[in-house]
Amino acid sequence: MIRKLSLAWRLAIMFAVTAAAVFSCVAVFLYCVMTDSVRGQIRGELMFQHVLLDPMLRERHTEEEWQVVRQKLSGMTQDGGRMRYWIMSDDPRYRYGNALATKTGQPLTDEEIAFVKDEAQRVWCVMSRTIAALGDRPAVRFVVAQDSTSYLATKESFTRILRTTSALGILLVAALGYWIAKLGLWPVRQLSREANALPPGDPRQRLRLEKLAPEIHQLGVSFNNALARRESAWLQLEGFNADVAHELRTPLTNLIGQTQVALSQRRDVDELQDILMSNLEELERMSNIVNDMLFLSCAENGVRAAELSQVSLRHEAQKTADYLEDAFLLRDMRVTLDGDASACVDRRLFHRALANLLSNSARYARRGTQVTVTIAVVGARVQVRVADQGEPIPPAQRARLFERFYRGDAARAQSGAHHGLGLSIVRAIAVMHGGEAFADSQDGINTFGFSMMRRPET
Ligand SMILES: Nc1ncnc2c1ncn2[C@@H]1O[C@H](COP(=O)(O)OP(=O)(O)OP(=O)(O)O)[C@@H](O)[C@H]1O
Ligand SMILES: [Mg+2]
Repeated sequence: MIRKLSLAWRLAIMFAVTAAAVFSCVAVFLYCVMTDSVRGQIRGELMFQHVLLDPMLRERHTEEEWQVVRQKLSGMTQDGGRMRYWIMSDDPRYRYGNALATKTGQPLTDEEIAFVKDEAQRVWCVMSRTIAALGDRPAVRFVVAQDSTSYLATKESFTRILRTTSALGILLVAALGYWIAKLGLWPVRQLSREANALPPGDPRQRLRLEKLAPEIHQLGVSFNNALARRESAWLQLEGFNADVAHELRTPLTNLIGQTQVALSQRRDVDELQDILMSNLEELERMSNIVNDMLFLSCAENGVRAAELSQVSLRHEAQKTADYLEDAFLLRDMRVTLDGDASACVDRRLFHRALANLLSNSARYARRGTQVTVTIAVVGARVQVRVADQGEPIPPAQRARLFERFYRGDAARAQSGAHHGLGLSIVRAIAVMHGGEAFADSQDGINTFGFSMMRRPET
């Protein structure tokens, strides 16, 4: 439910809760201060009465003298007056007035104030003091009472006012909070209007940041960055579609052309066999492109290498180098291996990655040079580097080498045979093993390589 609440409502509720907490604290504080100060006043008055009257009681002890005390006290007590006095004693001769029970029923404690109620429901605040025994007179408790009905009424009305003003204050703060939140969220609505105004079908469009409020500017920048990433993915996809179509168009055109030529006249079996062989080659090339594309799309969807086994990478690399020996011999080149590492990898994929790098070296490195395959452990990964001597690769070109269908000029010249998928596959295989691919070109040495986790990630 709370998730569906708008931001403005949420902020208003938060304001209200905060206001409730603040108002409650202030109200409790004011209540305590008020009660304390009134109690202090009453206490002072009761104390004053005791200081005034206690000596009169203390000195009198005979019954006759006590009679005088009674007369004095009744003289001081008027009907409906604010003050009352009574004397509590075990000996009835020394009692005076009708002692009332405290509201809580607790016995009185000397110099503590307590509340009692009389028959007319008036509330009295009382304070007692024990007057020590003297002569025949036993110890008595002298109680002074002050009418505190008006004090209690004031306290009640004060509490009522506090409650009402607190409730009104909370409502007011909540309403103001809602209004402020609405006002404060205006830049967000502005951003949303801007975003909605972006024309569909044009990935180049961006939000006009200069129109945005400063608070929302960073959000706008992030939004534009997301749009830029979208655009580059979109362009890549567009380019990729065009590349696939382009790569498949050439073999398809060849196939159609050759088949039309074959059908244009009667052919003997040998001729037809040649044509079919040539068509088969084209079909195989197309099939390779499609298989490579499927492989890359699997890797991009997060498929991990599954058939893992613990192998010596040098041993496996040697097998790959042997397999490509003819390609190197053709160009008077030699492959040397350096280092070793044991790792848990998919052998078939490892061969495929290394074969892609080595066949690139056999194709693009200078004739008669040496190619070095270095295997090393780097942290939790193994690194395989293939270094050859060839034309320097400019940095701008280097950044694009791992893109699908990207080919350098030399490769483009033989575009029928090479599609620019080899390095993308190397990178995909590295990623499938929790690693990455890299390329470098320095001092006439071109280095291509990949890394793989030594043990599968759990
Ligand atoms: N060892 C290398 N030396 C110089 N350039 C290289 C080397 N390896 C790759 N390249 C450049 O990188 C480009 C991409 O290589 P990649 O292996 O992806 O494609 P390809 O070799 O052109 O085609 P494919 O591998 O699909 O047959 C190549 O066209 C080439 O320009
Ligand atoms: Mg290649």
